Amino acid sequence: MDLFRTKPIADLQVEVATSHELRKTLSPVNLVSLGIGAVIGAGIFVLTGNAAALYAGPAIVISFVISGLGCLFAGLCYAEYASMIPISGSAYTYAYATMGEFIAWVIGWDLILEYLFAASTVAVGWSGHARDFLAEFGLRLPVSLQQAPIQYVAGTGFQPTGSLFDLPAVVIVLLLSVLLVIGIKESATFNNAMVLLKVSVLLAVIGFGAWFLFSHPAVAAHNWTPFIPPNTGRFGEFGWSGIFKGAAVIFFAYIGFDAVSTTAQEARNPQRDMPIGILGSLVICTLIFVGVSLVLCGMANYTELNDPAPVVYALQRSGAPAALRFCVEVAALAGLSSVILVMLMGQPRIFFSMAKDGLLPPVFAKVHPRFHTPHITTIVTGLVAAVAAGLLPLNILGQLVSIGTLFAFVLVCIGIIVLRRTRPDIARPFRTPFVPLVPILGAGICLLQMVSLPGDTWLRLVVWMAIGLVIYFGFGRRNSHLNRDRRVGPGL
Ligand code: ALA
Repeated sequence: MDLFRTKPIADLQVEVATSHELRKTLSPVNLVSLGIGAVIGAGIFVLTGNAAALYAGPAIVISFVISGLGCLFAGLCYAEYASMIPISGSAYTYAYATMGEFIAWVIGWDLILEYLFAASTVAVGWSGHARDFLAEFGLRLPVSLQQAPIQYVAGTGFQPTGSLFDLPAVVIVLLLSVLLVIGIKESATFNNAMVLLKVSVLLAVIGFGAWFLFSHPAVAAHNWTPFIPPNTGRFGEFGWSGIFKGAAVIFFAYIGFDAVSTTAQEARNPQRDMPIGILGSLVICTLIFVGVSLVLCGMANYTELNDPAPVVYALQRSGAPAALRFCVEVAALAGLSSVILVMLMGQPRIFFSMAKDGLLPPVFAKVHPRFHTPHITTIVTGLVAAVAAGLLPLNILGQLVSIGTLFAFVLVCIGIIVLRRTRPDIARPFRTPFVPLVPILGAGICLLQMVSLPGDTWLRLVVWMAIGLVIYFGFGRRNSHLNRDRRVGPGL
């Protein structure tokens, strides 16, 4: 059945060895930094407070640990793939080599939700922070340029906002797209600077928080008790169900560590460095998230944390110096910019791989002769992400991004078990430990988080996947290079 034809791994390895189009400039430090760049953003700076206030209370810390474990298990699977098949397309390429063209298309199409729409979602968050920041200096944008024309209110549905489009969100996406066309090295340097800033500021927040809580043990005891507030009687409102709901919401904070795998062809030594980049960034981010959420719920009571800038709020509550609050505002802007940058970097590289395989038109596989970047796909991605960021509301986009990413992780975990059975012979410089336990736990935790997301998000996922199927059967299946070559799996 040609739906399940696979791309021979030997062909993939030849492609890597002979490909000189993309520049191999990324070091292990760059890769870890890219992972952190993509991960620390709107999730920790915005969503944590909301999830603590509405679902988990101080036990949001446990939600971070659960979601982090799911990501760690999925990350271990990603690391095995990335060391074995070091090509730019990430999970799409891995699925093509293992589970066949149809599943690969499904993952590739699904990853658009993760990368392209995450860039738009975070751009909308960036716009909110930029507006507040400008307001500190007395500068205000006209109302018509402040946000998307519609907003989604649970229970009532879509409502007009009175605005035309979100100008700051559009501007940041377009500016970062230009940087990405100019060069991967330049983009990585910008990313490193942003990462340094946001990590140092978050460490300062943890340091200040720890000092405050040690010197005010009564406040800490009051805010941390009860650590798991009792369930209100409704599923997802505190208690253990609330911890899982909280995990599903803050999963967004972890999205992005897998973006490292989209730059495999630009890494100097991908076999060794991909696992370092993926797992290193994930571990560092998990520790930071647990530390920040712990001090956050100690400095302010969780009931007060449903604020668009919860970290700034908690610092205010505990009388932190104004300079630290100002640094957090700047770090949030920097942090969100680097998330948008890495997401906008990942998406074109997936389109690039899909076009190389014939599943998308060949123009998507063009590389700029001077800059050596996939400029056409970068521009297309930037334009679509800018339109989505300018016109769509944040909550709708964010949940769609989470469900899409969780779905990709589930497929990646299952794929590892399948490949260990079907192709035990392929060299695996990095091996996921305890297979099949780790992939099963990874897929299980991700599925649990998917189930905790609202029904209409599932509906949107189904509609999105249906559009993808129409494109695959209308274009990709006929134009696939495997079709042209008439080389049909499973003869890898
Ligand atoms: N993890 C990224 C963020 O929180 C997407 O902004």
